Amino acid sequence: QLRGGGSRTLAYVVLDATNPFFTDVARGVQEAADAAGLALFLCNSGEDRERQAAYLDLLEQQRVEGVLITPVDAADPRIGALAARGTPVVVVDRAAGPGHCSVTVDDLLGGDLAVTHLLDSGHRRIAFVGGPRTIGQVRDRITGAERAVARAGTGELTVLETARLDVAQGRRAGERIAGLPAARRPTAAFCANDLLALGLLQQMVRLGLRVPEDLAIVGYDDIEFAEAAAVPLTSVAQPRHRLGRTAAELLLAEARSPDGHEHQQVVFAPELVVRASTGLGP
Ligand code: RIB
Repeated sequence: QLRGGGSRTLAYVVLDATNPFFTDVARGVQEAADAAGLALFLCNSGEDRERQAAYLDLLEQQRVEGVLITPVDAADPRIGALAARGTPVVVVDRAAGPGHCSVTVDDLLGGDLAVTHLLDSGHRRIAFVGGPRTIGQVRDRITGAERAVARAGTGELTVLETARLDVAQGRRAGERIAGLPAARRPTAAFCANDLLALGLLQQMVRLGLRVPEDLAIVGYDDIEFAEAAAVPLTSVAQPRHRLGRTAAELLLAEARSPDGHEHQQVVFAPELVVRASTGLGP
């Protein structure tokens, strides 16, 4: 029994609607909402805390059945407060405290898979491109990458921190890499997401450098554009659709029986998809 008097609606507050990763997560949410006969409100915080707060207020006034959120700040106290006032909340793609269900992907493993692949392909000077480090996923992907280097006992990982995870920042990282003397330039880059990797790839081509011959590139997420790139991108695939679907199912279970509900932290495993940007695959 879902709560009465409400709008028979779920909401997903997305962090960045310009990132196709979130479109795919939202498709999974929508599928679960459709199956339960609920409508879905999609809200875009655009990484803006104030806008996110305004949406949370509005959704509570609208008495939605529950809120899925990829928060700007995983520790935002407004999220716990909303749940405490009786609106079920599930945190998507960011770790949450024990007060909520959450659905995430093992980013330590993802970083490890990416860099192990580069080391196995013979690379020793590897750049990590991504940031800011305030994002837990970024930190975990770096730690996973470092773990792979430590285990191999060879290779060197240099972190090129970016201000955001977008195409423009990928292009800027490309300028920095191309500007290094050839003897110090990394031969491979592991990017914290595909948008960065696509920007990096574009900048390498613009500057007359070849991918993968001059720089092998691995992205993260495996969005549809990764395969469609001029040099198809090797990427660490996240189960985007399943993330969304599972999160929505957890939310619906909590909305139906809030009393007997036990919060769950679901963690999926990522998978490496090898393509031409690291010299293998189609
Ligand atoms: O912050 C956005 C990023 O986090 C996405 O590109 C995806 O990697 C997610 O985990």
